[in-house]
Amino acid sequence: MLDKINFMRKKIVAGNWKMNLNYTEGVSLFSEIVNMVNDEVIGNQKVVICSSFIHLSAISHLAKSHPKVSVGAQNCHQTQSGAYTGEVSASMIQSIEVKYVIIGHSERRQYFSETNLILSEKVDAALKHELTPIFCIGETLEQRNNNTHFTVLKSQLSEGVFNLDESEFKKLIIAYEPVWAIGTGLTASPEQAQEIHEFIRKEIAVQYTQAVADECSILYGGSCNSKNAAELFAKPDIDGGLIGGASLKSRDFVDIIKSFPK
Ligand code: 13P
Repeated sequence: MLDKINFMRKKIVAGNWKMNLNYTEGVSLFSEIVNMVNDEVIGNQKVVICSSFIHLSAISHLAKSHPKVSVGAQNCHQTQSGAYTGEVSASMIQSIEVKYVIIGHSERRQYFSETNLILSEKVDAALKHELTPIFCIGETLEQRNNNTHFTVLKSQLSEGVFNLDESEFKKLIIAYEPVWAIGTGLTASPEQAQEIHEFIRKEIAVQYTQAVADECSILYGGSCNSKNAAELFAKPDIDGGLIGGASLKSRDFVDIIKSFPK
């Protein structure tokens, strides 16, 4: 049964380049990655590169001849268009054939005051424009130490995405990124991550159905690298990773893609 479920669920490694790499560096890293993925990675894993807006159009164009690698944005605005200086809408992202968008990253929640309500509007905008949201949730160290992490995660889900009807929810990818593990070198242990992924899947089953929960890809993010990815990806509820720092080096990133159990 487990094998059947694992077969049904998409295995995904997504790179989040954050605010790194100038235009030339980004295009050249993307080219390196697609060539290595084509040559070395055999399997059904899905690979997504989420770059800054300045790279998106160019790498989305390059990705057309590399079907194993897709491209995503790191954010979108919740409205269609208008006087929002500096913002980029989901429809603009769709217009350059980008297929994914990260929504709810803890850095957006923390530094740009994005609330669950705003994030839920962003998810709606993304879905309306046929973008697959990679919806991030995660607790801070303080919340974990206070033992409120399950409550926090539950409200991030219920206020952010559980308003969706089943057919819309099925289009999402969820990423669990404990804030205390992001960029700190402190990875959640495979057991800690599995515990939360199992919890998330149960919450999805309660809100929707067991079948919806079984099909939902839940990624782990937070200091995931080529050394610890295999142990994390071996856990039954961890379907891949959302990778920050280690996605900026082609060799490390491709090694992570190769870390799924055979
Ligand atoms: P690091 O892999 O650098 O810890 O970042 C994780 C992350 O925030 C991915 O979205």
